[in-house]
Order: sequence, then C-alpha cells, then structure tokens
Amino acid sequence: MRRRIAPSILAADFGRLHEQVQSVVDAGAEVVHIDIMDGHFVPTLSMGPPAVAGLRDFDVLLDIHLMIERPERHVQDFAAAGANNITVHYEATPHVHKAVQAIKESGCTAGVALTPSTPVEALSEVRGELWSVLCMTVNPGWGGQRFIPASLDKIRRLRALVGPDVELEVDGGIDEHTAGPCAEAGATLFVAGTSVFGTEDPGGAFRRVAVAAGCS
Ligand code: DX5
Ligand code: ZN
Repeated sequence: MRRRIAPSILAADFGRLHEQVQSVVDAGAEVVHIDIMDGHFVPTLSMGPPAVAGLRDFDVLLDIHLMIERPERHVQDFAAAGANNITVHYEATPHVHKAVQAIKESGCTAGVALTPSTPVEALSEVRGELWSVLCMTVNPGWGGQRFIPASLDKIRRLRALVGPDVELEVDGGIDEHTAGPCAEAGATLFVAGTSVFGTEDPGGAFRRVAVAAGCS
C-alpha cells in the first residue's frame, strides 16, 4: 500500500488557509486532514462542516477526524459538506458499528480511531468494515504534542490485526524523526500538523516528512 502524508489544517494559519493548502497540494499532497472537536469529547473546539465545504474545491481526499461525542448524529452533515473519509472515535459512542454503517451509507469510507489508552482489540469486530484505522500517537485535542514512543509497538499490533489492505493512519507528533519509525511499524497514512503548517514553508516541510516516511 502506498504511503501518503495527510497535512492537518489544525496547525494552519486560518487567515491564509486556501494559500497554505494550495502550497501542500502543489508539493504533492493527495490527502488533507481536518480535525473536528466539540469541547466535550475533547476539551477544545475547532471547526465544523463549513470548513470541509470550504476546501472541497481542492482535488484531494478530505479526511475528516471527528473528535466529537455521538459522532453518528453528525455524519450526514460532513458527508454533505464533501468529506471523503470520516473517522469516528471508538471511545465517543457506544454504537461504533452503527456509526460506521452511517458513514458508509452516506457514501464515504469509514475509519475508527483509538486514543492511546484503548487496546487494539477494540477494533476486532469492525475491522472488516473499515477503509482506515487511526492510531492516536498523542492524546487527542491539541496539535503540537510530543509523539508517544509506546505507539510504535501498538502500530505493529494494529497492522497485524487489520491485515495489509487497511490504511493505518498515525496522528500526533508526526515529523521527520517519527514518520520513518511509524512507516517501519506499518503505518501508511501520516497526519502532520505542526511539522508542516507550523513552518514558514509548508510545501517544503511536506516534502521532507514525505521523504522521511518513504512515500513514493
Ligand atoms: C490532535 C489532532 C491532530 C493534530 C496533529 O488531536 O487529531 O490531527 O492536528 O497535530 P500535530 O501534527 O501538531 O501533532
Ligand atoms: Zn487528527
């Protein structure tokens, strides 16, 4: 499976969002990661469906990471806004399977995310339904945190659980130093916020992380 970097706009300058996304698209980005936070599942607030619609004109896969409680209630709004892949947190609803079905019925592909304390076995009953699994490599809610080293072993176990055909997404603290070890452990989709948009040259930073991850 090809490895790809998914720049996260959470770390972008929102006053220049279009220009910043254009710079990573020009550098080869095929996926853009959008973090949705509700002030409940995570203490922070970020954005909603209009942010997705605002980026729909880019010819990229819009990868939506819902850090919100009871995400199944909002799936349709994000699909209508132009989402391609929608990821819900295992910890955010007692009805993960139903949420995954709702995503697929909306015409999107589905992902499930695990926080650092959730064991990989949580995915065993839904793995056959998923386009992606997202391994949080920091605690969700904020950009700019340090990668949790124990994540590498978890990535290996996740890859073994889901098999070779599911995107294994890593999210949090991914940069030129951590992307390579994550790739070696089995990750294929690398969310990078601060290491790309926290720099003066997002396009150049994107390319450096892509090289480190072994993207072709
Ligand atoms: C954190 C979000 C991440 C965030 C990553 O809860 O899920 O996608 O943007 O940011 P960095 O790359 O700065 O750790
Ligand atoms: Zn994210």
